[in-house]
Amino acid sequence: MEIKTLGVMTGGGDCPGLNAVIRAVVKTAQGCYGWRVLGIEDAFCGLIDLDYRSPHGNQWLDDDTVRLIHTRGGTILGTSNRADPFRWAVPEPDGTLVERDVFEQVLANWRTLGLDALISVGGDGSMGIAQKCVERGMTNIVGVPKTIDNDLGATDYTFGFDTAVGVATDAIDRLRDTAEAHDRVMLVEVMGRHAGWIALHAGLAGGAHAIVIPEIPYRVEPLVDLIRARRESGQPYSLIVVAEGAVPAGGSASTLGPREAGAMVRMYGAAARLAEGLEAQMDLDLRLTVLGHTQRGGSPTNFDRVLATRFGEAAVHLVARGGFGRMVALRGTSVVDVPLIDAIDKPKLVDPDGELVRTARSLGVYFGDEP
Ligand code: F6P
Repeated sequence: MEIKTLGVMTGGGDCPGLNAVIRAVVKTAQGCYGWRVLGIEDAFCGLIDLDYRSPHGNQWLDDDTVRLIHTRGGTILGTSNRADPFRWAVPEPDGTLVERDVFEQVLANWRTLGLDALISVGGDGSMGIAQKCVERGMTNIVGVPKTIDNDLGATDYTFGFDTAVGVATDAIDRLRDTAEAHDRVMLVEVMGRHAGWIALHAGLAGGAHAIVIPEIPYRVEPLVDLIRARRESGQPYSLIVVAEGAVPAGGSASTLGPREAGAMVRMYGAAARLAEGLEAQMDLDLRLTVLGHTQRGGSPTNFDRVLATRFGEAAVHLVARGGFGRMVALRGTSVVDVPLIDAIDKPKLVDPDGELVRTARSLGVYFGDEP
């Protein structure tokens, strides 16, 4: 089919590199194919409701609007992780929110806007929505994977991850100075709701003494032993990196209240829970730092800028080839494309028996599951 108008949207939590994708999409679509590009605001919000107006707005994109944006974090289109057209939160007369399927509205608005194809940039949630749209007849969609958590299946890396690991590593370096000066135990909580990639990479890069990740349920006792052993060997300080999705053996991840309509469960308190456990078992001077959304902002690293640019360019060529229902991905050092289904099939988790964990253990890093 002939493409004249291409839509592009960014969905889910933001991450450094989204603007680099948008820029690459616009420059390739216009420069190589002469297509018009419409930026959709706040993920599916700008397609669900054409009167929806955030400060971003649905906007025509050209060379001028995307000039040099690849160096900036965030997304010029805005994003949302409450924009699922199959679970759209609608207020009832009494004010309570209920989730409704508003896909028919999306389809009608797609036609009104004259879209011929859409590039959806997002994580597992966005790729799941894209797949459902394809199944329900809005077929001309191509995905681009993003997430700082790096937990999306079917791609070796997502952009945003490298920048997040850089932020976390820098924090660990800084915290080491003050931990060592005060002989303290420092807990650093990083993002990673299902996967411990950020914790593991930043922990290794920063030389943490323990790394607690969702894939390896922890007990407090081995960590107490580690801190004691370090003290006895003349190292009275310790650095422990904790992924937000860390799970105590026999327990579950720490979350904040029940899931709100149209939203996902919020992670909260993983490091605080471990701190309580440690303080209950030993006398120690402990401080806790939650890095939170600092990991999601800032200028993308050169790795993330280049990966995001490659993904954006490849996605446009995939549209031109009619490769709909597929997602661009990194395999080894090559950008390839895979069925959307492969990306959402199962998350990419840290292998507890894999090389990275083994490397860390060989260097004496604890994971909290030591006998
Ligand atoms: O999925 C990416 C992520 O950064 C998770 O690590 C984190 O739990 C979540 O997003 C936080 O999202 P929100 O923007 O809703 O706080």
